[in-house]
Amino acid sequence: MSDDPFAHLKAVQREAWAVFAPLEAVTTMPAAELVRHARVLPQQSVLDVGCGTGVVALTAARLGARVRGLDLAPALIEQAKRNAALGGVEIDFQEGDVEGLPYGNATFDVVLSQFGHMFAPRPEVAIAEMLRVLKPGGTIAFSTWPPEHFVGQMFALVGKYQPPPPGAAPPPQWGDPSIIRERLGKAVTDIMFDRGVMCFPALSPQHYRKVLEETLGPVVNLVQTLQGDASTLASFRAELDGFVGRHLENNMLRQHYLMTRAIKC
Ligand SMILES: C[S@@+](CC[C@H](N)C(=O)[O-])C[C@H]1O[C@@H](n2cnc3c(N)ncnc32)[C@H](O)[C@@H]1O
Repeated sequence: MSDDPFAHLKAVQREAWAVFAPLEAVTTMPAAELVRHARVLPQQSVLDVGCGTGVVALTAARLGARVRGLDLAPALIEQAKRNAALGGVEIDFQEGDVEGLPYGNATFDVVLSQFGHMFAPRPEVAIAEMLRVLKPGGTIAFSTWPPEHFVGQMFALVGKYQPPPPGAAPPPQWGDPSIIRERLGKAVTDIMFDRGVMCFPALSPQHYRKVLEETLGPVVNLVQTLQGDASTLASFRAELDGFVGRHLENNMLRQHYLMTRAIKC
């Protein structure tokens, strides 16, 4: 039996994230921004944590880096392998959990995560693992959605209808620079932040909601949970549509994100 107190949560997440692949269309461009922000060089050994379908991993591999990718969802790992084959790059993808990385100490020159490790329930465990597998002098870099912007607020809305289990940190905390500094602590130096915007096309709030219900893990999971509770599901949908409607402009949702880079001491 697993001694992970969040084993059940992760089993649910593994299934819910399995349908994320279509959203690679919107995470492809920020992947290049993260690889740039991390200053990845040819021949460096790079880990992409929470790699999904491999958008960051492929970007780094196409620069000539030696790349491994890890994700909780086996269905996404299969898609990542197909993406690597299509892109003509060799990447070692495997299923796994950022809270227990299957790599030795000081293995990588660069450890990256684009909107990935932020979903682990125990930030202190996730960051300790990412730093453990990083070489001294190596670079850790990640992209996260801040709590005050569109995606962070949307996750807060989802959290209102389905609070995280006791002890699990809300993902958008990873978008707050002061919390990031605290979590990285004295293990790193030279912390640098940068910001970007990813654009998500949508014809209406209902179109956007349909995409989320079909592809975004936490929303997929919430809608499944509320299947037997039609009135709460209707309230969630109405609240989400109203929120999205206030942000939709020119058939587009602008999704601000934060990039962090730091050097391991
Ligand atoms: C928003 S998606 C981002 C995927 C990809 N990095 C991208 O930018 O397209 C979040 C990813 O984190 C993964 N994930 C969530 N919790 C994880 C965990 N504990 N360990 C590893 N991966 C995890 C999910 O399976 C999912 O692929």
